[in-house]
Amino acid sequence: MTKYTPIISLALSIVFLSPTFGQGSEEWWKSTTVYQIYPRSFYDTDVDGLGDLEGIIQKLDHIKKLGFETIWISPFFKSPQRDFGYDISDYQSIAPEYGDMETCKRLISEIHKRDMKVVFDLVMNHTSDEHDWFKESASSKDNPKADWYVWKDGKGKEGKKPPNNWNATIGGSGWHYNEVRKQFYWASFLEFQPDLNYSNPEVKNAMLDVARFWLGEGVDGFRLDIFNSIYEDTSFVNNPASLRIVPSEESPDGFFQKMKYNVNQEESFEFATELRAVVDSFSNPQRFMVGEVFGDVETTKKFCTYNGKDGLHTIFLFQTLSTPFKARKWRKMVEEFEHNFPVPFVPTYVFSNHDRRRSITPLGNDVRKAKLLAFFQFTARGIPFTYYGEELGIEKPLLPLKTGKDPLAQRYKSIPQFLVNWTGQSLNRDECRTPMLWDTTVNAGFTSGKPWLPVAENYNEINVESQNENPESLMNFYAQMLAFRNQIPALKFGSLEIDEDLSNGKVFAFNREFEGQRYLIVMNMSNRLLKLHDGLGEVVFTTHQESDPYDFQPWEGTLFRSAISD
Ligand code: GLC
Repeated sequence: MTKYTPIISLALSIVFLSPTFGQGSEEWWKSTTVYQIYPRSFYDTDVDGLGDLEGIIQKLDHIKKLGFETIWISPFFKSPQRDFGYDISDYQSIAPEYGDMETCKRLISEIHKRDMKVVFDLVMNHTSDEHDWFKESASSKDNPKADWYVWKDGKGKEGKKPPNNWNATIGGSGWHYNEVRKQFYWASFLEFQPDLNYSNPEVKNAMLDVARFWLGEGVDGFRLDIFNSIYEDTSFVNNPASLRIVPSEESPDGFFQKMKYNVNQEESFEFATELRAVVDSFSNPQRFMVGEVFGDVETTKKFCTYNGKDGLHTIFLFQTLSTPFKARKWRKMVEEFEHNFPVPFVPTYVFSNHDRRRSITPLGNDVRKAKLLAFFQFTARGIPFTYYGEELGIEKPLLPLKTGKDPLAQRYKSIPQFLVNWTGQSLNRDECRTPMLWDTTVNAGFTSGKPWLPVAENYNEINVESQNENPESLMNFYAQMLAFRNQIPALKFGSLEIDEDLSNGKVFAFNREFEGQRYLIVMNMSNRLLKLHDGLGEVVFTTHQESDPYDFQPWEGTLFRSAISD
């Protein structure tokens, strides 16, 4: 037993005796915590080496036990799986390798039975080129769906040059020639993911019907895939030049081009409000949308509110993925989020996902830092998103581009591997999609077949079963943090104010306050042992339970309950 255990257990008993806040309330999404599942890699029950929906059902208690309230599941709809589900060929049926409609309905109801919410991944921007809609559209210039995708005549004598200079968001022309129609179709992402033409009202209605269908099945909301690419400017004029090479969180411009006419169009903001109206028509319980969008604050905020109307409930703020884990940088990021997305906006805190390297990678695979990151994530004002395996500290393996299953890895395979390694990013997204680690049995218990991606070599140490038995494990730390967050209203609903006195080049500190309760969060974001003055309040929780609360160990975080002075 540690020195501070009595205080901690006292605090816990107080908070556990208080009523549960937020659950079932109108605006549940504002205070929720989200766990993202990549279904292909979660748990395999039919020995094909791929995770499946039945596997998710069997492992729901893991997520419930950790204390998450919402589950977002990456796409599992019918798909040729060239982009592993982000290329959908039927929005209303389930990919057979993942299950069937009956299992999907059971999954929704099993999640609800556990008093959790479920968010599906809606890929509205494009379909697979194997969707019946595209097949029909591509079959001639005058079929009933001829105008369902973005078709244009090419340039040049034979019409074989792209209609304009627009690049796809991943670089290279986004126009692809079709021999039958002798025209080009537009694809914001990869060639086999043709963009739907939202200027055609039939398309818009068909996709709103897809949303209605799943809402009708009880789904609590959507994560919206590349939502800023929905509309293109119908004048199809060339994009202006830019000096930017690589697009970033703040700007989709890149590959020497400003994405002026093919992303973040006014019509896309308007569409967010139309989608909101549909989602709001399913009001009991309230539903939720989070958008994957890129751009500056002014622009991306328009996805949440446009012309006085509500749009998406919130958007991913991906700066979290590129901000170094340093006190001053972290403070600046939080300050910006608070300034740009003040109440009633709710910021999002996401540190990895199925496209980006594992969150422990930039932390040098240091578990102390991973705990501090989680400590921050669950005490800050915003919606925390945790990617499966993040709670275990699954590390990013080095999987060469050349052998990548990921279509982006295949596309970029000529980039020298040493350059990729140097960036520390996962250009081969297989690296962030390796199987979940359940126990010490073969393939970490993920499958008894042949796993579709390699299982982490260190799974004997890093897995759910072993971490469950170790009170000091990262996973148990997540569970403790979530318990605090779920029971302390100030952490869920409170205002956030930076603590100017304590914050400096090594320490980042902030206060959360709600209905007469005030909590102080102090993080030592350095390798040094620091001494803090006393009188900060009663220690509720610390990442390093053995230490004196005013001796801040390297990478220690402490939550204090403080008196409100007025
Ligand atoms: C989004 C998804 C990514 C997918 C792409 C195309 O960025 O997160 O995984 O490949 O859109 O749908």
